[in-house]
Amino acid sequence: MNKVRLGIIGTGNKGLRLGIVGLGNMGAAHARSVLEGKIPRMELAAVCDTNPDKLEFDSQVKTFTRSEELIRSGAVDAVLIATPHYSHTTIGIDALKNGLHVLVEKPISVHKADCERLIAAHTNKRQVFAAMFNQRTDPFFQKVRKLLRSGKLGEIRRVNWIVTNWFRTEAYYASGGWRATWAGEGGGVLLNQCPHNLDLFQWIFGMPKRVRAFCTMGRYHNIEVEDDVTAYFEYANGATAVFIASTGEAPGTNRLEIAGERGRVVYENDELRFMRNEVEMSKFSRTSKQAFATPSTWDVRIPLSGHGGQHNEILCNFANAILDNAPLIAPAQEGIHSVELANAILFSSLQGKTIEFPLDAKAYERKLKQLVAGSKFKKPQKTEKSASDFAQSFR
Ligand SMILES: NC(=O)c1ccc[n+]([C@@H]2O[C@H](COP(=O)([O-])OP(=O)(O)OC[C@H]3O[C@@H](n4cnc5c(N)ncnc54)[C@H](O)[C@@H]3O)[C@@H](O)[C@H]2O)c1
Repeated sequence: MNKVRLGIIGTGNKGLRLGIVGLGNMGAAHARSVLEGKIPRMELAAVCDTNPDKLEFDSQVKTFTRSEELIRSGAVDAVLIATPHYSHTTIGIDALKNGLHVLVEKPISVHKADCERLIAAHTNKRQVFAAMFNQRTDPFFQKVRKLLRSGKLGEIRRVNWIVTNWFRTEAYYASGGWRATWAGEGGGVLLNQCPHNLDLFQWIFGMPKRVRAFCTMGRYHNIEVEDDVTAYFEYANGATAVFIASTGEAPGTNRLEIAGERGRVVYENDELRFMRNEVEMSKFSRTSKQAFATPSTWDVRIPLSGHGGQHNEILCNFANAILDNAPLIAPAQEGIHSVELANAILFSSLQGKTIEFPLDAKAYERKLKQLVAGSKFKKPQKTEKSASDFAQSFR
């Protein structure tokens, strides 16, 4: 992330003074976006990474190896936290307590109790506190949410989401000592890749009543945490949902199927299809005189393209929220829900039983601490090649 590699001198647009903490794959990409002027009204004023090799920036960008110093430097109005997940809580609390606006990467914390601590530190509501749930900017998911809220699909009966297109190699897992360990990350696919999907899940369908889940630790990779998940949810209205995720299947699938009283919505392969029943299916079932008939349907492909502004849209929205009180796309407080879902899925699998919501945050924190303390796993050594491969694929 130095000026030679980037070929960029300067701080980006003048405006809100941003500090970025953590300049790995994600933090460096955010820094690049700001430096390239892609975020109107935002300038990169300071950066921080515990690894000094990541701090070769133009002299206008202040550099720090300790987040405490960046936060107290007076050089920034806001911080973006892009460090490994556990430290989102501690750095986030420190930044909020010192009066800064905060944008935190997903997941906002590793477990529900830490989310509660982080959210409790947001006492001054004039400080903007947002989370990087960039997939909320995707028009496909926005449309699905709108369809459900409008009632056009009727009452939801069943949801299936298969998200196995998060394929990762052993080189990926070797690319960071913290990755896929209980102590470094607090989980696997649920805490790293799936926060986006679980956030959309609760954003679209709300929180379930209970979950029974099955996770396999290191099914496809030499890791101690889950890389394969099947979760079964039940909702207050009797609807059910199955969520399947994996980082070990290729080719993977991303298929979201929602069955409601007025038909079925399917999102797959960048296509959103709505097969709408002319009448509600349960009413049809009660009133039809024929044994094998089904309701007539209209079959519509909803015309949508592209995947929205993603990370840069969240960054622009963060600046607009601070400067103009624009409503946030993803308030950080909402980030607790995806963490609670991830924790409950793991807890159910580890204990072999159904977990009721709300999750007992303290009980799960105790369980996670036991997993960390009991870990005998030795992480394979990181290779230069695996790290550079990963950076390439990330871009
Ligand atoms: N929104 C997205 O699409 C997306 C994509 C990738 C990663 N992320 C999130 O970003 C975060 C970082 O992931 P990554 O892949 O960039 O990891 P990474 O390992 O590539 O980078 C982490 C960086 O943080 C630095 N660091 C660690 N502890 C620090 C501390 N206390 N203070 C300052 N710097 C510190 C490390 O030296 C490293 O440079 C994770 O929480 C991850 O979930 C989000």
